[in-house]
Amino acid sequence: MKTLIVYSTISGNTKAVCERIYEALNTEKEIVNVKDSKNLKVDNYENVIVGFWCDKGTMDKDSIEFLKTLNNKNIYFLGTLGARPDSEHWNDVFENAKKLCSENNNFKDGLLIWGKISQKMQDMMKNFPAGHPHAVNPERIARWEAASTHPDENDFKKAEEFFTNLLNK
Ligand SMILES: Cc1cc2nc3c(=O)[nH]c(=O)nc-3n(C[C@H](O)[C@H](O)[C@H](O)COP(=O)(O)O)c2cc1C
Repeated sequence: MKTLIVYSTISGNTKAVCERIYEALNTEKEIVNVKDSKNLKVDNYENVIVGFWCDKGTMDKDSIEFLKTLNNKNIYFLGTLGARPDSEHWNDVFENAKKLCSENNNFKDGLLIWGKISQKMQDMMKNFPAGHPHAVNPERIARWEAASTHPDENDFKKAEEFFTNLLNK
């Protein structure tokens, strides 16, 4: 069974995790940035891992658009996000991704991995006025700090193990 990984990334977290998964797989495999997926012959693959970064509580737009090009595939997802792993938001993102991946395909399983918030994003939010829903506050700064070392080696190993258990021969 051939496996395709298509990842979307802005600051590199999702790319880094997907590359580690790619290296660990011992099946026929390919890895492609979603930006280069326009002419991809998806018919050649039975299994597709969609690597997304979380944007406003769900999959980023490029990943959603890519998913729409797929039909009847075995779909897995790997998402990265800045929220704390024990948060309600984390579970919501999982459910939202699961729903999108189930629409025209055979959703198999998914994994979320903690990812740091890029400096660019932090700088942008620092300019939001007080009262803005995403304005900087001590709780948010603590959350950025907690996420700042992720994905780390344990995260990479977790992702490798998760996908090799599911997909390796
Ligand atoms: C525009 C924007 C929106 C984001 N929205 C969320 C969000 O709703 N929930 C969350 O947990 N993280 C959110 N994040 C954080 C990213 O999902 C996280 O940093 C991710 O690991 C980035 O992946 P990348 O490095 O592959 O681009 C957001 C980041 C950006 C830039």
